[in-house]
Amino acid sequence: MPHKDLREFLDKLEAEGELKRIKAEVDWNLELSHVAKLNEDQEGGAALLFENVKDYPGKAVLTSLLTSKKRVALALDMPPDTRFTDIAGQWVERMSGTRIPPQMVDSGPCQENVLEGDKANLYDLPAPWVYPLDGGRYVGTAAYLISRDPETGRINLGTYRTMIIDEQRAGIQIIKAKDADMDLIKYEKMGQEMPVALVTGCDPVLFLCSSTMFPVQESEYDIAGALRGEPVEVVRGVTVDLPIPATAEWVIEGVITPGEKLPEGPFGEYTGYYSGTGSHNREFIKVKAITHRNDPIFWATTVGKPVTDTHMIMGINRTSSLWNDLKNMGIPGIKSVYGPPASAGRFLAIISVEQMYPGHSTQVGLAAFATHTGNYGLKTVILVDDDIDPENMDQVIYALSFRYQPDRGTQILRRGRDTPLDPSVDIPQRGMTSRVIIDATIPYEWEEKPIPIELDPDVEAKVRKKWKEYGFES
Ligand SMILES: Cc1cc2nc3c(=O)[nH]c(=O)nc-3n(C[C@H](O)[C@H](O)[C@H](O)COP(=O)(O)O)c2cc1C
Repeated sequence: MPHKDLREFLDKLEAEGELKRIKAEVDWNLELSHVAKLNEDQEGGAALLFENVKDYPGKAVLTSLLTSKKRVALALDMPPDTRFTDIAGQWVERMSGTRIPPQMVDSGPCQENVLEGDKANLYDLPAPWVYPLDGGRYVGTAAYLISRDPETGRINLGTYRTMIIDEQRAGIQIIKAKDADMDLIKYEKMGQEMPVALVTGCDPVLFLCSSTMFPVQESEYDIAGALRGEPVEVVRGVTVDLPIPATAEWVIEGVITPGEKLPEGPFGEYTGYYSGTGSHNREFIKVKAITHRNDPIFWATTVGKPVTDTHMIMGINRTSSLWNDLKNMGIPGIKSVYGPPASAGRFLAIISVEQMYPGHSTQVGLAAFATHTGNYGLKTVILVDDDIDPENMDQVIYALSFRYQPDRGTQILRRGRDTPLDPSVDIPQRGMTSRVIIDATIPYEWEEKPIPIELDPDVEAKVRKKWKEYGFES
């Protein structure tokens, strides 16, 4: 059964021993993020619910919700021990069914408290200050912006970091060509403001979807419905005509005026570096209303060096969407796809292929860069044969050591779209990257292939039978 809201998921985590409540007072100013990061650095650190945030009685902050593979599996309603690539495989499977659009309901707890006009104040949210050189407090990390395509009516949910500028304005980093950017361009042409809602605190599947690279025409609501197997219940916004998840914890309603910009950032990013050396002029939300549940829970991600929950979230959603994109291209033989969380699932992908014709593995490598997901910032594709498990680093290194020939197996592509956050690119050049295919497969066309060593089956059977006689326990 999908989770009705964030609270139901937290109950599940608590029952699994995966949630820790912090009762001691913690300052939103750096202390909270530092507790969260240090906890994440400990293998197996639980999700944290800060119940006593300085200056914010009754307003809890949640971090590290999806930092472990186990919690990602639970969020998607799968057994806790599901392997990462199997979670992605099941995601792809669920995507192959029909989309399930959201269901409009008359009311929802997200509007239990409504603050409109002058009463709406962004400093009412317990938004943390995360890293020392950040440009401000971030109200949007585990959040998503809802917008509508004014021509087609498609509703988009997109995660774009959002910084408080003052009581009623929040700067937002919508990177060029992201879906909300496409929507905004249309509003600009029409000479209109874009109505938006920024949401935090919901069924985690919605957040997993809002941070996934789906084709611009598709609504994340419909995809979340397909992944959940049930529609997302939505209510109409108080001041904006947009569908809002009925059980959301916090909702900021407002407008973005195309062309109007204010400084936002820098922000300590998931790359382990600040996003730049200073702030940038960016679009901002003008707040019209803030609504929230009683005893609201503010959900924030951690960022910085891997592996944080941001890496794990992007790891699963980029792995799944790259795999799904490749599947939709109809290329045969793709056995498994893995975007390691340490690369945020996006800079590097390992793909195993059952080769069926000469050039097959190269086709997969080139295709990965051409997909909607891979086109944006994927830099390295490692190709392995289907006997190699991409999630098993020993096996991948084995293939790189004993099957890969650098001159034959390396192909460099000079120019491709990149995230402006990539610290391996000189700051003025950011936005474009080179790419590399590392083909660690045995060439299909070789007539004489290396002969793999296998154990002699008769001797193996005999040895297994006598196993305990050799003094082994099991
Ligand atoms: C925690 C987190 C923060 C993110 N911050 C940004 C951001 O500031 N700007 C951005 O364009 N994408 C950001 N992304 C990536 C986008 O969410 C992702 O590209 C998504 O596909 C955007 O939605 P869209 O495809 O509907 O445009 C972030 C992802 C995560 C998980």
